[in-house]
Amino acid sequence: MAMILDDIAAQGPIPFERFMSMALYGEGGFFASETLRSVRSGDFMTSPEVSPLFGETLAVYVLAVHERIGDPLLVVEVAAGSGSLIGPLMAVTGSRAIAVEVSPAARAQLGGIPDLEVVSGLEYLPERFRGVVIANELLDNLPMAMAQRVDGAWRERWVGVEEGRLEMIDAEPRDPVVTWLDLYAGDVPDGGCVEVQLAVGDWLTQMSPRLREGAMLLIDYGDTAENLLPRRADGTLRTYQAHHLGPYPLEQPGATDITADVNFTAAEDIAARLGFETKLWRQDDFLAHLGLRDRLSRLRREELALAGGDEMERLVLRTRRTEVEALLHPRGLGDFRVLELTREAEEDVVDDNGPDE
Ligand SMILES: C[S@@+](CC[C@H](N)C(=O)[O-])C[C@H]1O[C@@H](n2cnc3c(N)ncnc32)[C@H](O)[C@@H]1O
Repeated sequence: MAMILDDIAAQGPIPFERFMSMALYGEGGFFASETLRSVRSGDFMTSPEVSPLFGETLAVYVLAVHERIGDPLLVVEVAAGSGSLIGPLMAVTGSRAIAVEVSPAARAQLGGIPDLEVVSGLEYLPERFRGVVIANELLDNLPMAMAQRVDGAWRERWVGVEEGRLEMIDAEPRDPVVTWLDLYAGDVPDGGCVEVQLAVGDWLTQMSPRLREGAMLLIDYGDTAENLLPRRADGTLRTYQAHHLGPYPLEQPGATDITADVNFTAAEDIAARLGFETKLWRQDDFLAHLGLRDRLSRLRREELALAGGDEMERLVLRTRRTEVEALLHPRGLGDFRVLELTREAEEDVVDDNGPDE
């Protein structure tokens, strides 16, 4: 991407988060292109793309929050992709819903969902609302800094150009990066690499004041800082392309998804500081808690009952059943984390959900 080379030519090496921001969201960036990425024909498969039962199961959660906080309730999905989560969810709950998406290709697709409002940033949401905010695989795509432990101290990895090629460059760590590392990296061995997810905290800080009452579900791959330690030798930074692990992030900027495991210790701590009650779940446990395992048992029984019957109907049931098994697979999507954040009403604030429907 010429833009990245120009940027470095103009100002010298840049922090990794600036590189990642341009590679994913800048002109010609991975999510800025005409192509919708989070679909079967795209570059990676996400839970809602695997099965509509993901959105239908999260609808059970939304209905429970609705029962708790009453009307009016707004559902906000951030990073809504193709709409494969919010569509099935709206069909069950009938709630007012807004999708937030930075990708023009995704916004165009979301525009086809009846009654769904679509915006390009958090600043277009009501200033105060009551409801549920959901983000599946957003946090892992927020631009992050890169750090390495060298001789017992932190160094940053910036992006520069050497002999016409993008290269990682050693740099003095910036103060906010060191503060984050000291708080959330854990006991990283020498040589270890850490993705510094300052933007996760920024995003939470921007979202938090809007949610007067209700809940937030942040779903992603990742783990606690402690559980991520065994992966620190190489770090968890990686790319995806056409459903496979892609090349090194600097090799094809704009053509690969750049991502890393989410440090949920940091996300949970920052959310708690913002006043949320927090609970970190595994995805398989969270979905089972909402009834998906019972639904799976029903699907299995229905499939068995059709033995020797209508082959087409049986095939549909089998597909549905294997999709649900994928959502719950303990070493696959079931191993994702769900950070559940809840907030009780703040009495002195007038909400801005708009008229009751
Ligand atoms: C991995 S995809 C997930 C899409 C969808 N949630 C799913 O699970 O299929 C990440 C999405 O996040 C969007 N995105 C990234 N940063 C965002 C932001 N700050 N606000 C809204 N959407 C964002 C990208 O455009 C992309 O569509």
